[in-house]
Amino acid sequence: MDARLQRRVQRYGWDRAADTYDRAWSRQLEPAQDLLLELAALQEGEEVLEVACGSGLVTLRIAEAVGPGGRIAATDLSTGMLDLARAGAEREGHAHIAFLRNDAESLEVPEASFDAALCALGLMYVPDPVAALREMGRVLRPGGRAVAAVWGERSRCGWADVFPIVDARVESEVCPLFFQLGTGDTLAHQMEEAGLGEVELRRISTTLRYASPEEALEAIFEGGPVAMAYSRFDGATREAVHREYLDSIAPWSTGEGYALPGEFVVARATRG
Ligand SMILES: C[S@@+](CC[C@H](N)C(=O)[O-])C[C@H]1O[C@@H](n2cnc3c(N)ncnc32)[C@H](O)[C@@H]1O
Repeated sequence: MDARLQRRVQRYGWDRAADTYDRAWSRQLEPAQDLLLELAALQEGEEVLEVACGSGLVTLRIAEAVGPGGRIAATDLSTGMLDLARAGAEREGHAHIAFLRNDAESLEVPEASFDAALCALGLMYVPDPVAALREMGRVLRPGGRAVAAVWGERSRCGWADVFPIVDARVESEVCPLFFQLGTGDTLAHQMEEAGLGEVELRRISTTLRYASPEEALEAIFEGGPVAMAYSRFDGATREAVHREYLDSIAPWSTGEGYALPGEFVVARATRG
């Protein structure tokens, strides 16, 4: 897919997903976000850049970790997501977070100005993830840490068929590179290609729990990366994609709902 088109699909897709996102995903993404923050080992007073901050689930935890003496720049492509994140920061009384609408591949922040650069579950959506990792490296001071979390191997993510199911009904793939970074050591290699060193990579298994088919359908079609395509489907198409998706996750039915397998890859590297 053309990179500009991919960015537009992402930007406006996540604007649509914003209202559903926290309800659908906050609990499910927590294991990846916990490990990301553990590997980042943030200290009080540090200056942290966050890429693809979304609704601010990780941003607020960074703010707690660095305390009022720290400083955070939280960036995302979607205005809808940034509005949520900004509202959360105001609610929690965090005045030390600056929110910027930036593409991960071109951050409007000065070089060598942060102690850590974090990206939770955002790189899979970026047309050129190495360019985004290079940007994370650029803004780090020497010795600064870059930490990124992505979804793991396609075969270990029970919800993965949503992409071919939606792609069959749109003109260009929604997320052409989605599982690339989670395959093997790709994320580590891409960090090295971006000029980062001392890379450490971990994989963790997880289970996505849905109490009902309706909950599983809302999360996947309205709260995530296919939200834009889905919003344009007519009623019959929606019914068809619901049926196909529920068939694809049937092996993990618990009777009432579903317990889908998932995998995350989290990697940490440093700027030399
Ligand atoms: C799954 S959400 C993750 C949000 C947050 N980091 C979290 O852990 O909850 C993915 C985010 O990536 C953002 N995104 C997608 N493409 C992007 C790009 N090229 N540059 C910056 N952000 C992007 C979306 O707007 C969305 O907010």
